[in-house]
Amino acid sequence: MRMYDLIVKKKHGEALTTEEIGYMVKGFTEGEIPDYQMAAMMMAVCFRGMNETETLDLTLAMRDSGEVIDLSAITGVKVDKHSTGGVGDKTSLALAPIMAALGVPVAKMSGRGLGHTGGTIDKLEAFPGFRAELAKDVFVHNVNEIGMAIAAQTTDLAPADKKLYALRDVTGTVDEISLIASSIMSKKLACGADAIVLDVKTGNGAFMKSVEDAKKLARTMVSIGRRAGKHTAAVITDMDQPLGYAVGNSLEVMEAIETLKGNGPKDFKEVVFALGMRMLKAAGKAANDTDALAQMERVIADGSAQKKLAAFVAAQGGDFAPVFNPGLFPKAAMKREVLAPQSGYVHRILAEQIGSACMALGGGRVTKDSAIDLTVGILLQKKNADEVKQGETLAVIYGNEEEKVVAASEIVQSAYEIGVQPIKRRPVIIDYIN
Ligand code: URA
Repeated sequence: MRMYDLIVKKKHGEALTTEEIGYMVKGFTEGEIPDYQMAAMMMAVCFRGMNETETLDLTLAMRDSGEVIDLSAITGVKVDKHSTGGVGDKTSLALAPIMAALGVPVAKMSGRGLGHTGGTIDKLEAFPGFRAELAKDVFVHNVNEIGMAIAAQTTDLAPADKKLYALRDVTGTVDEISLIASSIMSKKLACGADAIVLDVKTGNGAFMKSVEDAKKLARTMVSIGRRAGKHTAAVITDMDQPLGYAVGNSLEVMEAIETLKGNGPKDFKEVVFALGMRMLKAAGKAANDTDALAQMERVIADGSAQKKLAAFVAAQGGDFAPVFNPGLFPKAAMKREVLAPQSGYVHRILAEQIGSACMALGGGRVTKDSAIDLTVGILLQKKNADEVKQGETLAVIYGNEEEKVVAASEIVQSAYEIGVQPIKRRPVIIDYIN
């Protein structure tokens, strides 16, 4: 077999066989197929696409390029949740303890943030002493004992995807749906869960800007998951504005804790509950949505989900006291209000810009090795469709350096689009793909 022939075959729009895709992924990962040939193949895929079988074959070949985690020592149906990434997306911090309190084991690998979206591991490190690097046996033990563990993704999960994604990133070949779907699903399948629930975000702060593309991506990922033998479902959710009010690591943790106490923002709760319903059904713990919703409300009302978060933080070496007293989180030194320049209604809040403002404060990573300030961030006071009066507070900026606070305020100010006409609130749950 020669890579040259496979490139020409794809250029002519023909489907590659399982063996050909296996040869290509193995050869590329092992360094026998050079970057320039793989780049040509990726560009041919962008123009010619891949059918469902090719997409599944690529996913499985990338999954099998590294370790596939064996979670069989954990009892129960393990359900994983994955978000395609958004601003203010602290969903896992509330959802995982709710699921664990309901007896759904959560064995989750998460990433650190890069660019305008944050990562779950960074947020969790707001708890002093929290450790995300767990040995495999500790990870399994914690899930069996407490019901949940969240660990930093190890580098040997789907190494072929890591290498291929880096190449796609510099050759203009990231934004092809079957390539994105196989990239995400190769890592998810390597994490070893029995079922996967996907949160596919759409809007200006998301990877998928249009609802149509988000649906296509969700359908492709659900099809891969099912064909790989995993119960898979997806929810399409809005990212045309940040989720909830808090953006920034410890501010987001505080909002998740408030949600576990029953006081969270409405849009955030809706996303948590929509995903939770699918997770409970996938785990065989709820007969229908009404039953699932009632169970989730029960563990919030009786405090068991909040206690689960505390037990999980403690088991990973963190100080759990802030779970019951969020005032104990270290705070930023400065605070500045962003005021509405005119009266009207909030037509849009550009989520990507709010994420960039958080980065400008030092709360996000520019490169994968940047240090981040967990105390800084933005608390929105007004959201989509809210009425505002001139001079009213749109958002509050929390920072530690005057210059950065001023720069972030300007970015946040320009992220708000205020119009004179009242508008209908955008729903946060856009669609379900089952
Ligand atoms: N995220 C991924 O993990 N892979 C892609 O291809 C795009 C986004």
